[in-house]
Formats: sequence, C-alpha cells, structure tokens
Amino acid sequence: MKFFVDTAEVNDIKDLINFGLLDGVTTNPSLIAKSGRDFKEVVAELCTLTDTPVSAEVAALDTAGMIAEGEHLAAIADNVVVKLPLTLDGLRACAHFKREGIKTNVTLCFSPNQALLAAKVGATYVSPFIGRLDDINLDGADLIRDIRTIYENYGIETEIIAASVRSPNHITEVALAGSDIATIPPSVIRKLVMHPLTDTGIEKFLNDWNSTGQSIL
Ligand code: E4P
Repeated sequence: MKFFVDTAEVNDIKDLINFGLLDGVTTNPSLIAKSGRDFKEVVAELCTLTDTPVSAEVAALDTAGMIAEGEHLAAIADNVVVKLPLTLDGLRACAHFKREGIKTNVTLCFSPNQALLAAKVGATYVSPFIGRLDDINLDGADLIRDIRTIYENYGIETEIIAASVRSPNHITEVALAGSDIATIPPSVIRKLVMHPLTDTGIEKFLNDWNSTGQSIL
C-alpha cells in the first residue's frame, strides 16, 4: 500500500522524504486554511520538493469553474493532481480532465456507487473518507472492501485512496481491505512506528549491553 501524506505543511513533507516514506501528497481547503499560506504557492513549493502526485482541490462548484480552476492548478507542475468533489458537476469535470490527460482525485466519496461513478468517468484516484463514516457509527473499512471488490469485478484501474484517516488502526484496516493508498496525517504516520514492547526491548538490550563493558567501534 502506498503512503500519501495528508498535509499542507512543507516541513512535514521534507521529513518524510528523508525517510523514503512519501508516495504522494494530498491537500484540501481545510488544510490550506490551517497552514495560513497562499494555496498556489504551497502547491508549487510541494511540487519542487517531490515529483510524487500532489492533489490540489478546486473550490468551484460548477463544472466550468472546476475546469478553469483545475487547468490553472495543473499548469503549476506535471505532478499536480486535480481534486474534484464527487458531485455531478465534479464528475463532468473529471471526464473533461480524463480527455485532456490530466490526473484527477475524486474526493468526498462515501458510497460504493459514488466510487463506481468516479471510475466510469476516468478518475485516476477516488478518495473514500473512512474516518468521517466511522464518526457517524458506520464502517469506513467496509466501504474500502466494497469498492475493492467492485473494482476487481470489472478490472477498474482507478486507485483507491483511503482518506480521512484518524488512527494507526485505520491503516491496518484499509491495508487488509486492499486499499491501493492511504493518505495519512503526519501525526498518524509517526504513531505507526510506536510499540511499548519495542521501547522496553530496547531498554533491556541497552542495559545488558552496557553491563558487558564492550564497545562496537
Ligand atoms: C484527503 O484527501 C482528505 O481531504 C482528508 O483525508 C480529509 O480528512 P478529515 O476527514 O480528517 O478532514
């Protein structure tokens, strides 16, 4: 499973590039607002740091507006992916970008039928929001499983990005469900490495090593 990072913070991304953990970046209007920075500047900067896909979301709600904004965003760099909402207007815009050879990420997906529609209009990626489903007592991982099954049934190439990830458990669940990608907040990526038995194991080995009085170098 590929790891995208869900952030508009450039420093988070630099860190993950150093780790070799970065397969792509997703942003959304809320993350841009949180960064307090100019949207197009952030996208341009992200694209100078990585040649992996960088999703940048349109703000318009009508097809013509989405196409105009998406073309503007796509002109920033070759690795920009135009992020479109899963509405009829968004799907029309997606079909347009497919014809133009511009990559798309159809976002705010909450049902298998929506994911099927995104694939039918040629979306490069679809983003089911698992955390927001869990928030209302539904099962986000079930949605990923259902979309995986449908996409396998028809040999669909649209890649599934498990989005709205909130916890390390989400990562295990969506990996088991066959998601192609998870887009993960940096705080959750850091938590993935943590295990108390790793920490106590290190402590024990270190104490025992020190008791030998040896040095490796
Ligand atoms: C990613 O593409 C989404 O915009 C993001 O994962 C949404 O996450 P949230 O539900 O925590 O806002």
